[in-house]
Amino acid sequence: RTVAVVLAGGSGQRIGLATPKQLLKIAGKTILEHTLELFEQAPRVDEVIVMMNPGFVNDAEAIVRKAGLGKVSRVLPGGTSRNATTQLALDALSHYSAENTNVLFHDAVRPLLSQRVIDDCVTALETYQAVDVAIPSSDTIIEVDDDVITDVPTRSRLRRGQTPQGFRLATIRNAYAKAWADPGFEATDDCTVVLRYAPEVPIHVVAGEEQNMKVTQPVDIFIADKLFQLSSAATPEFTEEDYAARLTGKTVVVFGGS
Ligand code: CTP
Repeated sequence: RTVAVVLAGGSGQRIGLATPKQLLKIAGKTILEHTLELFEQAPRVDEVIVMMNPGFVNDAEAIVRKAGLGKVSRVLPGGTSRNATTQLALDALSHYSAENTNVLFHDAVRPLLSQRVIDDCVTALETYQAVDVAIPSSDTIIEVDDDVITDVPTRSRLRRGQTPQGFRLATIRNAYAKAWADPGFEATDDCTVVLRYAPEVPIHVVAGEEQNMKVTQPVDIFIADKLFQLSSAATPEFTEEDYAARLTGKTVVVFGGS
């Protein structure tokens, strides 16, 4: 059984609006609704749990009801950090079988995730206990100390981590139990928790996609909106040539009818 946990407990401070970014609209729908629809449509995902910013649980429930998302079993309040939100989701799964349950944690603010990546994660969990999704880095990544470079790691060995991050339920439960027992515990994602607290577990990396961006900064709203236009343009009746023409600015289809 595969359960997708959609992490929407944040407030989007870097975007800086009163409304959390997962409730902003892109291409006519909230980012949260786009993301939930991806898992609703994923044939190998059985159930979806939404972890929502505590002040906006009603909004998320309304979205689920209105969109008729039958796989969403629960909308629950998230915690004060991303890791606290993950733990609350694990608590909600406490009565699920550790042997037969796989969990995919996905950022609510990555609404352009493809079915291919979801499917590859589910497949990888047949072999591995932990799975991450990542893409190569176009930029050189530097390490600094007070704005002075201390190291430039070899780019070919670096990847940019995305989500979903998938786990056998027993693996992620045990890693988190050890993490909270460590007073120095600090992490920003779930694979880091497994890497540090269950180091014997290899974390397999599935190829992600540039499109699977995390809406984080104000400019990302515009980029994601544009990407939605392009992906909705890539329908069967829309040829590769049309697609290329749009990308080069020679617009052959006008959206919105004017
Ligand atoms: N998240 C969560 N619970 C938290 C914090 C974050 O479930 N307490 C979720 C966010 O809703 C988001 C994902 O984790 O879908 C990735 O986090 P990030 O992009 O950092 O989101 P925010 O914390 O909302 O953004 P910011 O750091 O700008 O406030």
